[in-house]
Amino acid sequence: MCGIFGYTGFRNARNVILDCLKKLDYRGYDSAGIGVINKDELKIFKEIGELGLLEKKLPPIDVNIGIGHTRWATHGEVSIKNAHPQVSCNGDIAVVHNGIIENFKKLKEELEEKGHRFISQTDTEVIVHLIEESYKDSLKDAVFSMIKKIKGSYALAVLSTSEPDIIVGARQESPLVVGIGDNENFLTSDITALLKYTNRVIYLEDGEICVLSKNSVDIFNWNGKKIEKEIHIVDWNVEAAEKGGFPHFMLKEIYEQPHSLHQTLRGRISEIERSISFEDKVESLLDSYPKVVSIVACGTSFYAGMIGKYMIEQLSGIPTFLELASEYRYFGVRDKTSLVVAITQSGETADTLGALREAKNSGCNTMVITNVIGSTATRIADAFILTRSGPEIGVAATKTFTSQIVVLFLLALKLSRKTINPDELSRYLSHLRELPRNVRMVLERSEEILKVAEKIKDSKSVFFIGRGVNYPLSLEGALKLKEISYIHAEGFPAGELKHGPFALLTEKTPVIAIVTMDKTYDKMIANIGEVKARHSPVIAIANEKDSEIEKYADYVIRFPSDSNILSCIPIAVILQLLAYHTANLRGCEIDKPRNLAKSVTVE
Ligand code: AGP
Ligand code: GLU
Repeated sequence: MCGIFGYTGFRNARNVILDCLKKLDYRGYDSAGIGVINKDELKIFKEIGELGLLEKKLPPIDVNIGIGHTRWATHGEVSIKNAHPQVSCNGDIAVVHNGIIENFKKLKEELEEKGHRFISQTDTEVIVHLIEESYKDSLKDAVFSMIKKIKGSYALAVLSTSEPDIIVGARQESPLVVGIGDNENFLTSDITALLKYTNRVIYLEDGEICVLSKNSVDIFNWNGKKIEKEIHIVDWNVEAAEKGGFPHFMLKEIYEQPHSLHQTLRGRISEIERSISFEDKVESLLDSYPKVVSIVACGTSFYAGMIGKYMIEQLSGIPTFLELASEYRYFGVRDKTSLVVAITQSGETADTLGALREAKNSGCNTMVITNVIGSTATRIADAFILTRSGPEIGVAATKTFTSQIVVLFLLALKLSRKTINPDELSRYLSHLRELPRNVRMVLERSEEILKVAEKIKDSKSVFFIGRGVNYPLSLEGALKLKEISYIHAEGFPAGELKHGPFALLTEKTPVIAIVTMDKTYDKMIANIGEVKARHSPVIAIANEKDSEIEKYADYVIRFPSDSNILSCIPIAVILQLLAYHTANLRGCEIDKPRNLAKSVTVE
């Protein structure tokens, strides 16, 4: 995935684009580039590596229109030639692209036969040559003609010296949003990049094209017909997307959890009425009492889904299937009586969107849990539930994970109307109310967690174990650690260690055991004993009321609250802080780990 941006207006385009690309570089940081029109001439500046390197290289330049890009390479190595913008043979047209052009090889051959010279290895370059090939007197028409020939996914911004006052944008399966200003307009992959300048946006749909000038925005559908689109007001504020004094976005986002959890719950639970309510469309899908629930997601959202499966099955008894979106898309069993719940923070993950489309085409009811209003997922699914976590910039998902779990818990309660009594429901609602406070208490223990991070920071490998919902938490703890600290980490159901992974244990392999005071407590203690017998250090994450655990573990990190199914939230925060401190002690990048991107918009 990449970030694309376009600006036309009264400000200095070089500065606005650079400023806004800084908010998009979480989407890719292999290289960055800017294209501007200066006195009817196209000027391109590109640099490999972080945006800061481009900023250093970029001379001051007085321009009012331009496009920019941060790249996460899919086709072609990381190099200046492959960085965007890609430019036409005559040097008049420039394109930035997010997505993949699947039929680029064939198109490239055809274009080369017609005399076009390619200088990059990217799939993107065919776009600019196709536009050049069909350009007569309208950039918009040339873009239309080009999109009829390409297959794949794209969000594009195109600039041409022949029409130096406009930017043409197009979208197919990659996010693209128009920002409306006064005497200025914007094009962006993600609204967080815009918030400093405007909160008025138009979400483009697949197949739509937009033409921006400084004081007009025209949108056209796939057939070239001009259409009217609703302008949405975004209520995220600009401070929410800034670091606010924290050294990293990830840490800021970890600390925002008492607030984000409160936001997730706001207006959805009533302890007085002992009820849970969602938006009408969600309510009507749940009213049909699905026979089966299927959850599809990737990465951290998948682990939230795994916790959701435990919650839904335990509370409602409804069989719940869980599949990685990338597998479900091709191999999933799609039963029309099932409710398919996709979980995706960004609402733009290509694998999850693919699974959602498959489910919908097969006649299943579909629902999405996402953090981004207006994202593609919200437009595919029959209904959506927003996690309301606020913008999440750090590549490692944190606050959106805990909000996803809360939404899944609410769904589980809602689906259990026939199986749980009002007193039980009251108890669960009060556990939900306690969550922000319990998370705050974990945050206050950050120093203690830092001390444990010191113990594991030089390990080559770290294991995480747990039972029940603590098993997906172990997987998530391991993902967080490997993602940002580059330490090899694995999560296991505690009972499985003896079936193979034991072979890897040495006195240098710390094992993080998540121990809750439930029916599996004794079994967990036995599993810890087995690990200790192999001389591996054990770090237990345990309930603060657990007076026994110190006898078995080398170090203990306590989570507040009674052990109940929602203890997974404060425990998740401990795991996030442990990964954060470990990565920080190792001097890692944290917000932008190598080889990764925040939302993966390619398959
Ligand atoms: C989590 O820390 C990762 N960045 C990654 O696994 C992520 O959860 C996954 O790519 C899914 O993203 P989504 O929730 O936006 O669909
Ligand atoms: N395919 C383009 C490239 O490799 C864009 C990549 C993307 O959007 O992820 O440059």
